[in-house]
Amino acid sequence: MNFKIIGTGSARPACVKTNDDLAEFLDTSDEWIRTRTGIEERHVLTDGESLSQLATQAAQAALENSGTKPEELDFVICSTIRGDYITPSLSCIVARNLGVRCMAFDINAACSGFIYALDCATGYFERGRAQKGLIVSAEAMSKMVNWQDRATCVLFGDAAGAVVLEKGENLLASKLTSDGNVEVLNIPHVYGNSPFSSDEHNPSYLFMDGHGVYKFAVNAMATGLAETIAAAGLKQDEVDHVLPHQANMRIIQAAMKKLDIPEDRYRTNIAHYGNTSSACIPVLLDELNQAGMLKEGQILALTAFGGGLTTGAMVIRW
Ligand code: ACO
Repeated sequence: MNFKIIGTGSARPACVKTNDDLAEFLDTSDEWIRTRTGIEERHVLTDGESLSQLATQAAQAALENSGTKPEELDFVICSTIRGDYITPSLSCIVARNLGVRCMAFDINAACSGFIYALDCATGYFERGRAQKGLIVSAEAMSKMVNWQDRATCVLFGDAAGAVVLEKGENLLASKLTSDGNVEVLNIPHVYGNSPFSSDEHNPSYLFMDGHGVYKFAVNAMATGLAETIAAAGLKQDEVDHVLPHQANMRIIQAAMKKLDIPEDRYRTNIAHYGNTSSACIPVLLDELNQAGMLKEGQILALTAFGGGLTTGAMVIRW
């Protein structure tokens, strides 16, 4: 016994910033960003908008799509690098906004967070602890990047994606990894004003060695997909839809070359969102679902990598 996805939802801030908008205050260009990454625009949170609101909107959309009432939920799990507070967790706030008091907790596996959350949720169904549950992946990347660093800020955006799960048999295989690498990608924590520490701390911006992540990402995506598809007892060309983490179009294309999955099975929306970390895959999933592209029984392969460095790959039947 594991899970079946019975509904999807997503939400994005109304404010859209194009590459040209960023070029107004950064030494960059639409041509550079588009050709190096595939990104054309991204959504960003602005005055008065919170990640909790965005996450709640995505959750409500998924509940409606699945025909589920909030009180039917046995858990709310959010994946996020940064909720609105360190505590309470984003999931507790979403649960309160939905008017429910079931268990609620966050997972931080950076961009792999949605796949980690799905894998984690499986345990509650297996143990008979849940009939239905909600997963929301929501990220406010615009609050973590340094908007004076053109090498990183142009890559990211804000969004939330959600799914409602019920008991089922639709998870076919999954694989999660981590390697504890702080050097290629990190976001420093907030530090209080302890009188017992004179350690100096850098400002809390996302740091990334782009080349280091790129090299890791291509292999991680290709290996993750190949291994989980094999573990599911399937051939690569039996996959109907590949939903890769949307970090860079060139990473997706390089991973594609290492696999035997036909190119027309890869789904992307990076052009309109940039990298929204763990929200990438559920937002894409919702778009495919709303467009009627997912047919019952089709095979979906999800693959992600991110800070940690973590990886997640999963094969599910729709
Ligand atoms: N506009 C114009 N020029 C730029 C910009 C920009 N926005 N950013 C960097 N450049 C310049 C650099 O300064 C460099 O100039 P130089 O040659 O004079 O030194 C030049 O462009 C080339 O820079 P590279 O870093 O070599 O560019 P590259 O082609 O490698 O692309 C990129 C950089 C897009 C960051 C790529 O390495 C990448 O996608 N890496 C993976 C990123 C990723 O997947 N991150 C996921 C994070 S996941 C998470 O958990 C948050």
